[in-house]
Amino acid sequence: MTKQETKKRIAKLKKVINHHNHLYHVLDKPEINDAAFDSLKHELYKLEQQYPNLITFDSPTQRVSGKALDKFEKVRHKKRMLSLEDIFYKEELEAWQERIQKLVPNQKLDYFTELKIDGFAIALIYENGIFVQGATRGDGKIGENVTQNLKTINSIPLKIEIREKMPLHMLSKAESLLKKGKIEIRGEVYMAKSVFEKINQEREKQNLSLYANPRNTAAGSIRQLNPKIAASRELEFLAYDVITNFGQKTHKQEHQILQSLGFKTSQDEHCSSLNKVISFRQKIKRIRKKLPYQIDGIVISVNDNKIFDKLGVVGKAPRGSVAFKFPAKEATTIVEDIVIQIGRTGALTPVAHLKPIRLGGILITRATLHNEDEIKRLDIRIGDTVIIQRAGDVIPDVVKAIKKLRTGNEKKFQMPKKCPACGSLIIRPKNEVIHRCFNKKCGSMQKQKIAHFVSKKGFEIGGLGPKIINQLMDQGLISNTSDLFSLEQGDLISLERFAEKSAKNLIEAIGKSKKIPFSKFIFALGIRHVGEETAIALARYFGSLEKLRKASINEFANIEDVGEVVAKSIYQWFNSKKNKEFIDKFIKLGIEIKELKPAKKKLRNIVFVLTGELDSMTREQTKTRIRQLSGDVSSSVSRQTNFVVAGKEPGSKYDKAKKLGVKIINEKEFLKMIE
Ligand code: IVH
Repeated sequence: MTKQETKKRIAKLKKVINHHNHLYHVLDKPEINDAAFDSLKHELYKLEQQYPNLITFDSPTQRVSGKALDKFEKVRHKKRMLSLEDIFYKEELEAWQERIQKLVPNQKLDYFTELKIDGFAIALIYENGIFVQGATRGDGKIGENVTQNLKTINSIPLKIEIREKMPLHMLSKAESLLKKGKIEIRGEVYMAKSVFEKINQEREKQNLSLYANPRNTAAGSIRQLNPKIAASRELEFLAYDVITNFGQKTHKQEHQILQSLGFKTSQDEHCSSLNKVISFRQKIKRIRKKLPYQIDGIVISVNDNKIFDKLGVVGKAPRGSVAFKFPAKEATTIVEDIVIQIGRTGALTPVAHLKPIRLGGILITRATLHNEDEIKRLDIRIGDTVIIQRAGDVIPDVVKAIKKLRTGNEKKFQMPKKCPACGSLIIRPKNEVIHRCFNKKCGSMQKQKIAHFVSKKGFEIGGLGPKIINQLMDQGLISNTSDLFSLEQGDLISLERFAEKSAKNLIEAIGKSKKIPFSKFIFALGIRHVGEETAIALARYFGSLEKLRKASINEFANIEDVGEVVAKSIYQWFNSKKNKEFIDKFIKLGIEIKELKPAKKKLRNIVFVLTGELDSMTREQTKTRIRQLSGDVSSSVSRQTNFVVAGKEPGSKYDKAKKLGVKIINEKEFLKMIE
């Protein structure tokens, strides 16, 4: 190809790639598969390598580019970035209407409603149609330039064009602005629930502390100085505001502009009355759980822009919009104590013991404070009144302390210098946020190890909860996991709250657990960095305990998804004298490991996603069964998914599968496959 031809090919490739990017990331309606898409991108990349001076700022190959920054530059917003007044009740909504109606007495009001995404606000600037700058809100007047990171977000177009119908009276203005002029768009950057879960699962596997919620994780990712990190977080963008004048008369038209320029917007509705607003909110409330992102309410705006502007601003919020929030899953309570919990690996986690409080139907008594830095950041003291939140409908979080309520008797918390369980010196390794106890015999650590060993993903010994483990250890009946298998009914009866029947049940459960799938056995050992997935990979690769024990470090590193650090950790574990004896003991105790038979590869290379409940087996059993047959189980639906198994009351994965055209099967069909 001549340079001239290459130039033409590059321009065409960019157009086609941008088109498919838009179909996939904004409209959720892909037309070509990932491999074909990657292949186009690869061709473009190659051509650009050949003629680097043909690389443009808006090229799809430039989404992750640029070096890590030292700091973000400040950016002054042309128009202040406001926030919204929150309301929670119908009465407040009516009061709002009354208030504004008084200011514009002779106007008939109609409204535009959309979703309030739980992310954070961003302003994007396009010059002659090309994305040139993106900034955070900051204090509303001055934000930070995070352009590099925003470019990694696929739902932010690098170049805007008129893709879909644009209301006619704005078309020529739009065309001229795209040729020459500045366009400012605002919206919310967020992390999808499924991505958040995936990241946390990954962190759990690597024994790292878990992130609290998608919002903070997204905000943290955008504030990374290295764009590669932001890129790995798969953030998304949803637009809700057009600052530039295209001649739009209503908020509804602004959404039309956004869509036509290639932005994703949320579900919306034009409402002629407050009653319609309320039914929209009810509808959204019902589907809230199924949405791919977290929302905390709906936003209601006066639809007519002239009236909206006339209503003006009060404080930091426009009078013409309100955020009608869902009852917050937040409440206040008192931190009665901060107690250290010692994990299986010796990690110390400070946990707030709270005055019990009901929140979203659940009685909450504890909240994790994660680590020392987090306690310092929030300045939480024992005795403080705090706001707690059930983030993402799961683990409660301490949001902040209400400092004005302090009496002066609150106590600052200090990380202990010595392990509260065994008295060994506590160390916070350099560059880590976690304090650790390094005494391998630490009683507390042993208890956690046993809890891990008997957990669902391990030996699955039901009825052996933390309280019983404590009793058994405190009475000296067991000191490590292998001791469990020598317990007898008589040992248990002497314990508090143990009757003959419950003792018999537990001994039976322990006996039954001796037959265990290979991968679950590996998981139960609690080897550092070996979570459920790695355990499965090891079981599949080696097939038998004998082979696994004898493997070399290189062999471990050969396994897909096992990196150097993990390989080293596994190798060291199996080659320590103590662990060798430990494994021998298990073999002597008659543990029967169900090894994976190579013949059973019925589901090889088939990826399943499970949603809803099955009648015939638990979630854990289903996963084990699929894996025994060499299939894979993934937690989120993508185009790589082969089957979604839908049981009773399926969740959002069902809808995602429908959207992506992934095959959905019911329990009966699934059982047939695994027969
Ligand atoms: S309109 C006048 N629309 O909520 C301010 N905001 O509590 C413009 N947000 O700072 C806001 N989804 O970060 C608007 N559909 C939506 C929104 C939305 C989320 C956020 C935004 C804003 C905050 C105000």
